[in-house]
Amino acid sequence: MSIDEVVREHWATRAGFILAAVGSAVGLGNIWRFPFQVGQEGGSAFLLMYLFFILLIGLPAMLVEFAVGRHTERNPVGALGAIGGRAWRYVGGLFILIGFVILSYYSVVAGWVLRYFVGSFTGAYAADPEAYFVGIATGFDALAFHAIFMAATVAIVALGVRRGIELAVKLMVPSIVLVMLGLAVYAATLPEVGDAYAYYLSPDFGVLIDDWRSIVPAAAGQAFFTLSLGMGVMITYASYLAEDRNLAEDGTVIIGFDTGIAILTGLIVFPILFAAGIGAADPGPGAVFVALAGAFAEIRFGMLFGILFFGMFSIAALSSAISLIEVVVSYVIDERGLDRPTATAIVGGGMFVLGAPVALLSADGAPIMVDLYDILAAEILLVTGGILLMGLIAWGNPGLAIGELEKGIGDLGTSATVWIWLVRIPVVVVLLVSLALAVVGYAEFLTGPFAEFVSG
Ligand code: PFF
Repeated sequence: MSIDEVVREHWATRAGFILAAVGSAVGLGNIWRFPFQVGQEGGSAFLLMYLFFILLIGLPAMLVEFAVGRHTERNPVGALGAIGGRAWRYVGGLFILIGFVILSYYSVVAGWVLRYFVGSFTGAYAADPEAYFVGIATGFDALAFHAIFMAATVAIVALGVRRGIELAVKLMVPSIVLVMLGLAVYAATLPEVGDAYAYYLSPDFGVLIDDWRSIVPAAAGQAFFTLSLGMGVMITYASYLAEDRNLAEDGTVIIGFDTGIAILTGLIVFPILFAAGIGAADPGPGAVFVALAGAFAEIRFGMLFGILFFGMFSIAALSSAISLIEVVVSYVIDERGLDRPTATAIVGGGMFVLGAPVALLSADGAPIMVDLYDILAAEILLVTGGILLMGLIAWGNPGLAIGELEKGIGDLGTSATVWIWLVRIPVVVVLLVSLALAVVGYAEFLTGPFAEFVSG
């Protein structure tokens, strides 16, 4: 069955699309990955670079994805094939593969969050936060919660675009924003808050100059990851748009939300860490969990905050996971002709299997496979996807993109030219440099810590 024989669902409302895109963007990337990258890459120096990339690369790239999705009304494989010809279907295929890889480990980390949420009710992590993390990060618990999280994702997406995704995000996104705001206000009242803000908010240009080789790829990877760019999520979501809306306005709102939540997360996480005497998080995927659980064990009303924080965190992860799986599911429905529930179940099962080693293997208690998948996905795969897509559109088909963007706005005049040239040169060049640096960094990881792990 081809795309033309399937009636394509559409968002019921404008808010539905925006909330779904915000729900996709706001997730583990903001609340887990962002603070650990800030901690690892030099605090405010990283924050500055990241914000710069969000504006320079994130917004133009998001508009490209929107234009492609709404223009073609297809999943990434069909969309790229329709624009670039048959060979570009393989690039679309790469997007599907990236979605597969990301959700496979994303679900394991989201499983940790769920486990912490459950643990919050009994204060299970309070006694020894470090040991608790080691205990749940890999092994049976990790696998079980990975399975539960994947099952929840499958259940929502199997219901469809309107009844599943749109309804879910309309409940989820406002609750995320409310809880985050509440927590940030609370965090502002903590002792040591001044030191925490200083660490997080006053950029140290010396760090930027010394460590740019790791900060640049980390910031570019994080910008793509957090905005759900580089693998066709925004193509897919925009393909369900019926009317010609102002895509630039929608993109700005979505990016504003995502960036706001990331900044808020820092305003919550760092004061809590400093108040508990922990300081900036140590590098590593477990840092945020260990440190926050330790902090919740010490601060007043910590248990309540633990429940709220990990509950909200689970919801944020779920609304991103549904977008990741939707890319793959929409491909299977459109191009392979399966019905939605079957497609969703098969895809979810496959991702569960691919994520199982991440949940099971550890090096001295550390979930090393998370690093293996995560650096590959964010810094290499998403950025590669971004370069290819930006090249196809900005160099190969600029007229199509401009025409599509102008549909909801009117004549863009020179702004359109600025947009296309921004994508053609600065965006593509920054992404190429980031990719090259990331490949070198990944090779160092593979021949260093990972090789040690493999050789036992
Ligand atoms: N943007 C999501 C987050 O920040 O958690 C993760 C994500 C979703 C990454 C979709 C990539 C993607 F295509």
